[in-house]
Amino acid sequence: GLRIIATQFESATGTTTMTQDEMKQAVAQAAVDHIKGRLESDSIIGVGTGSTANCFIDALAAIKNSFAGAVASSEATAERLRGHGIEVFDLNSVSEMEFYIDGADEFDPHLNLIKGGGGALTREKIVAAVAKEFVCIVDQSKQVDLLGAFPLPVEVIPMARSHVGRQLAALGGQPVYREGFVTDNGNVILDLQDLEILDPKALEAQLNNIVGVVTNGLFARRGADIILMGTPDGVQTLR
Ligand code: 5RP
Repeated sequence: GLRIIATQFESATGTTTMTQDEMKQAVAQAAVDHIKGRLESDSIIGVGTGSTANCFIDALAAIKNSFAGAVASSEATAERLRGHGIEVFDLNSVSEMEFYIDGADEFDPHLNLIKGGGGALTREKIVAAVAKEFVCIVDQSKQVDLLGAFPLPVEVIPMARSHVGRQLAALGGQPVYREGFVTDNGNVILDLQDLEILDPKALEAQLNNIVGVVTNGLFARRGADIILMGTPDGVQTLR
């Protein structure tokens, strides 16, 4: 269940004037503070994709001499990391990773996530799978009781698009083709709308079984281990 175990940041005034961007910066800094005492000179950090992950990359740059480098979950993230002088490693050359830090589009009280709003879900899921601890960084707008108001991204091999679309419709949702978007892996995305997700683990497996599906944006079988949530009153830690 969801339990608030710490408030790591209090605004000096106690007023609720933080913008969404300031909340993202606060959780990004909280993530750096969370990992920095546990980094070694040979540590490799897994880094996610999106505007919150970008804030994390910028905050991470300040401690870039205390670890070896990063594995990126997208081309965009790799470029931003390199721009800060942080070395980017191929995942296949990395045998151990302590942390994966990434945002989410929605999270529920069990720390199940929907991800892939930015279309990077497949590489995100792969890097998360290797990491020992998945630290998810969000602002409070991502918090829900039940996943599914955010359309669930499904990455699909291009020639299977119509077939997968029909299978997704049979589940009761409405698949919408993300026009003009190609993933870093050369595939397409169907965003599954209007689906109430009562059993995220079961649905994640069911979607993976549709031929032509590469990955889906449910991170439930391997959800977040810890969520740092930005609120106007500070960063809350949920686990
Ligand atoms: C990208 C993702 C992102 O984590 C998700 O879309 C959240 O992005 P942002 O931090 O910009 O709200 O899954 O594929």
